[in-house]
Amino acid sequence: MPSPKGPPELKHLDHVLVTPAAIKRRIAGLGVQLNHDYASKDMMVVAIVNGALIFAADLLRQLSSPLRLDCLRASSYHDGTKATHEPRIVDQMKLDVRGQHVLLVDDILDTGKTLAAVAGLVRSKGAASVRTCVLLDKKGRRQVPFEADYVGFDIPNEFVVGYGLDFNERYRNLPCIGVLKPKYYAG
Ligand code: IMP
Ligand code: MG
Repeated sequence: MPSPKGPPELKHLDHVLVTPAAIKRRIAGLGVQLNHDYASKDMMVVAIVNGALIFAADLLRQLSSPLRLDCLRASSYHDGTKATHEPRIVDQMKLDVRGQHVLLVDDILDTGKTLAAVAGLVRSKGAASVRTCVLLDKKGRRQVPFEADYVGFDIPNEFVVGYGLDFNERYRNLPCIGVLKPKYYAG
């Protein structure tokens, strides 16, 4: 059982941007929208891990249409809060996307480079349709033109952790989305 007070690293947060209750409500809303839009389609959900792991797990349980799940791993963050290189797909999907209605699920849309690259790849492999669903959107940070079809929350230009999002691979288990105290970003 998790401690009733939550993980001790909650104390590293300077402030909370999105509470667990708000996340839960919004994911239920996204589920209603997706169940409507994909009512007559067999969908293939592709989660971009590790960041999308927790969001995808909760979102999938709101979806009522038949679906298949695959994951791919992209990497661009090797140095704290800075993307140090162009996104690379380091672990490919296992399922064949040809003719499939693919829903890409990611934790956050930031510069847009990751989702633009992954959406391009999935299209080039012959998917029938490609849409994207992100929990968080930092619209002010875009470096390539890219908008998601489904967005949980628009957030300001701050580096956030929790609910799957990490800083140097930590904090993914926090139940909320928040901003760390500056001393914890320092390393
Ligand atoms: P992109 O810049 O849109 O390509 O986003 C690449 C990836 O960077 C996202 O999928 C996240 O995993 C990660 N990322 C971007 N912003 C944040 C943040 O504020 N906190 C944690 N991870 C982030
Ligand atoms: Mg990611």
